[in-house]
Amino acid sequence: MAGTANRTADFNHLHPVKERNHYDPCIIVIFGGAGDLSHRKLIPALYNLSIDGELPDKFAILGFSMEDLDDEKYRQFALSGIEQFSRRKVEQEHWAKFAPMLHFNRGTFTEAADYENLRKRCEAIDAERGTAGNRAYYFAIPPAFIDTCSEGLTAAGMIHPPEKGHAFTRVVVEKPIGSDLASASEINAELARHFDESQIFRIDHYLGKETVENLMVLRFANAIFEPIWTARFVDHVQITVAEAEGVGTRAAYYDHAGALRDMVQSHLLQTLCMIATEPPNTTGAESMRDAKLDVLRALRPLGDEDIEKWVVRGQYGEGLIGGVPVKAYRDEEHIAPDSQVETFVALRCWIDNWRWAGVPFYLRAGKRLAKRVTEIAIQFKTPPIALFRRAGVLRQEPNVLVLNIQPDEGIALKFGAKVPGPVTKIEPVTMDFRYSEFFGASQPEAYERLLMDAIHGDSTLFARRDEVEAAWEHVTPLLDVWRDNPPLDHPNYEAGTWGPDASVAMLARDGRRWRRP
Ligand code: BG6
Repeated sequence: MAGTANRTADFNHLHPVKERNHYDPCIIVIFGGAGDLSHRKLIPALYNLSIDGELPDKFAILGFSMEDLDDEKYRQFALSGIEQFSRRKVEQEHWAKFAPMLHFNRGTFTEAADYENLRKRCEAIDAERGTAGNRAYYFAIPPAFIDTCSEGLTAAGMIHPPEKGHAFTRVVVEKPIGSDLASASEINAELARHFDESQIFRIDHYLGKETVENLMVLRFANAIFEPIWTARFVDHVQITVAEAEGVGTRAAYYDHAGALRDMVQSHLLQTLCMIATEPPNTTGAESMRDAKLDVLRALRPLGDEDIEKWVVRGQYGEGLIGGVPVKAYRDEEHIAPDSQVETFVALRCWIDNWRWAGVPFYLRAGKRLAKRVTEIAIQFKTPPIALFRRAGVLRQEPNVLVLNIQPDEGIALKFGAKVPGPVTKIEPVTMDFRYSEFFGASQPEAYERLLMDAIHGDSTLFARRDEVEAAWEHVTPLLDVWRDNPPLDHPNYEAGTWGPDASVAMLARDGRRWRRP
């Protein structure tokens, strides 16, 4: 399916796009502004938005953290982040426009006086750049600081109510939101003491991926998929989020979180919602989020037997990634040598509603797997073969629609075709669509889309409080059982493979196999 390369990517906006000249002015204040997330993701994303003309004309970025920086040094920090991590490299013309937006205000999150300084600094920027008192606070901070920072902002009079007539205040919150249902509810309650729900933007960066967003377009802007997107035609669904990377530099966090909290509770369940949701009634944020919440609420709770038989956890041992030897998880820096934390999870979910009754959804996520790939495979029912039996065809392959979320973004449909010749022989063939071939190689990063939406006040692609809590409600019983029953077999898969044997055996019990993406 080749097409004209480099088409503009405006095809996937599901909600009305504001005219550029109507973007409200604003300062984005990044708490933890000199941290890793800012360096790798936030600043490069803002730089790309600036090139694309997607930032308000009157706009400023203010880093707030303890590092010993000033505006000039912060600009150097930003420049090195862009040079290393931006999808577009630094060009003088763009940098000259972007650099003056960057500011830094040194301060601690616990000192009232530092919030006073921050407020004055924001007001000075308002006067200089015309940002009109509007604020988007980005909490790129550990969850333990959410309450402290919200409190500091409230005490300094820096949070306005959402009613019309006030300058706007928004807060963007990074995951993890909690480590179980109780702690997530606690964080949400803390946020709610300071902000209205309409002002809170909870990031799940999977929702900002072009290919995840395109799921809505695929399903609801085409007439051919939606009618067959039901238990009548679908045999099962597989969602795989495989990473070749290990725990990297985030050991301290990961060795407490593990794959279930880190990936399944957030990214995999959100992706599942996008696949399984009913069509929302309108394109507004609440309709979309209501529809996703319905999916989460229809998930069949995991009982003890499910947990024993239909959930697999694993931890990687040493192995080879791309032919290069890598360490076992327990030998990684800052990981406890007897860590029980899982780096792999596979589980079977049921969605108990009319559309999906009887269709298993198999989810798996893991680090140090054979390759980096995120894909969703919708496997349809196998057609009856009566018609071709006489011709000697004893088995027909099912149709599979594969949505490749990353890194080779695309959609492939597998179907049976007759092999040319006098005998009836059926072979599976594939129709393949690749984003890069059709739309050009440079896809916006998830953070670009999400930052843009937060700055413009569109919360469609952010998780609402009840969604986050419903997702935790689903996984918390599992966490409890695991806590009380530490694994005895970790490490139980070799780095560079597809996870523990038990995950293969789990599907085999259902007469199915994991795909090899
Ligand atoms: C993050 C997790 O949310 O997502 C990481 O904390 C994981 O552990 C990452 O590596 C994966 O994101 P992506 O976009 O690379 O698939």
